[in-house]
Amino acid sequence: MTETTVFPEGFLWGGATAANQVEGAYDVGGKGLSVQDVLPHGGIGSPRSEGPTPDNLKLEAIDFYHRYADDIALFARMGFKTYRFSIAWSRIFPKGDEAEPNEEGLAFYDRVLDELEKHGIEPLVTISHYETPLHLAETYDGWVSRDLIGFYENYARTLFERYGARVKYWLTFNEINSLLHAPFMSGGISTPKEQLGEQALYQAMHHELVASARATRIAREVAPNAQIGCMVLSMPVYPLSPDPADVLQVMKSDHANLVYGDVHTRGVYPGYFLRTLHEKGIALDITDQDRDDLTNTVDFVSFSYYMSIAETAGPAKKVSGAGNIMGGVPNPTLEASEWGWQIDPVGLRIVLNQFWDRWQKPLFIVENGLGAKDQLVEVDGVKTVVDDYRIAYLNDHLVQVGEAITDGVDVLGYTSWGCIDLVSASTAQLSKRYGFIYVDRNDDGSGSLARHPKKSFHWYAEVIRTNGASL
Ligand code: BG6
Repeated sequence: MTETTVFPEGFLWGGATAANQVEGAYDVGGKGLSVQDVLPHGGIGSPRSEGPTPDNLKLEAIDFYHRYADDIALFARMGFKTYRFSIAWSRIFPKGDEAEPNEEGLAFYDRVLDELEKHGIEPLVTISHYETPLHLAETYDGWVSRDLIGFYENYARTLFERYGARVKYWLTFNEINSLLHAPFMSGGISTPKEQLGEQALYQAMHHELVASARATRIAREVAPNAQIGCMVLSMPVYPLSPDPADVLQVMKSDHANLVYGDVHTRGVYPGYFLRTLHEKGIALDITDQDRDDLTNTVDFVSFSYYMSIAETAGPAKKVSGAGNIMGGVPNPTLEASEWGWQIDPVGLRIVLNQFWDRWQKPLFIVENGLGAKDQLVEVDGVKTVVDDYRIAYLNDHLVQVGEAITDGVDVLGYTSWGCIDLVSASTAQLSKRYGFIYVDRNDDGSGSLARHPKKSFHWYAEVIRTNGASL
């Protein structure tokens, strides 16, 4: 049988993780504390003022810091073409505002890159993934302070200088549009959300956008082969009814999210956003230098995709699923995961088309997956998980990626989220599993940390081997 596929040659299949959710070793090798080290209950919980506490699974996570070579070998067995991981800012600059980096931290990522090179896996590096150094949060109130731009710039320059010859694909900020929704986890902003004014939040957003653009400018100078991407949380919004008031509400919700990609791809703030600021009575501090920096636009747009939401102008019950930080109302046509995230494969095709039509930049799906409770069983004497539900979810979504490619959308690659089980960002659980590889660790911290390929491991290997023809 001849296998046919719509996925282009060289399509970057792989998986994604973030440092704080896999590495552990939170105080090893000179690493400073990050905001994650004081968030034992996840990004939607409150930080612990007393510092790291034993109930925080991220302190040890899945011990990738010591097991990276074996884990990367497992990724290679699936045939990964790329692996997305983040660099823990506080491994490189323990407090965040130092002039000189921590060599031990830099050396760790050299070793990770060595392993990836050994297996011919292309690295895809997130510079900042919800792990701002805690010192920057406590001393400067995170991204509310303009000083953060300079600290981030120094950090990004250090990374480009050190790894620029080895790493082609870079993402500046993970889900940059989550800042207004999760200010501490996303932006290192210590002031409690209830006390934060919108003026401060939007100013923080501006600082991140400028920092992202400056990183792009620096990369052009010191790592000319680098491809720089922004990264946004994507979530198609559907009108709950055909009432124009609902459709208008959808447009406004879309604008609130699309502004980040608009600025990253066009280099200026769009009119609808300036109107929002004006109507809210917000006057941003934007310097001439900022405006100039913002013109350094990205090479590609990357995004996460887990679910869609509905919106209405009228009163409606908001989605109550744990970890859905973006709000919205339930869509009566869709099923939801155990965590209340509504499952919508077609939404991925819609988002791919929307972003491509709007920005005409190559797109990279850098997160997608199903968080589910898994049962470890023995099949023919081998420990595994029969995760047909995960295979169905991923298969359905990838079929829609194929549809979008056939629609003419330029898609660089696909990295499924949490390719190895890790600690959840929103709820800090290990039982919310996404991986192709089961990690023996439980929510109470018990477990051997042993790795066991799941059924989906073999399914994904076949998808990659056939470049999507087996879907
Ligand atoms: C994204 C984040 O929001 O979603 C990841 O970039 C996160 O860090 C992923 O893990 C899934 O969310 P959760 O809350 O299930 O871990």
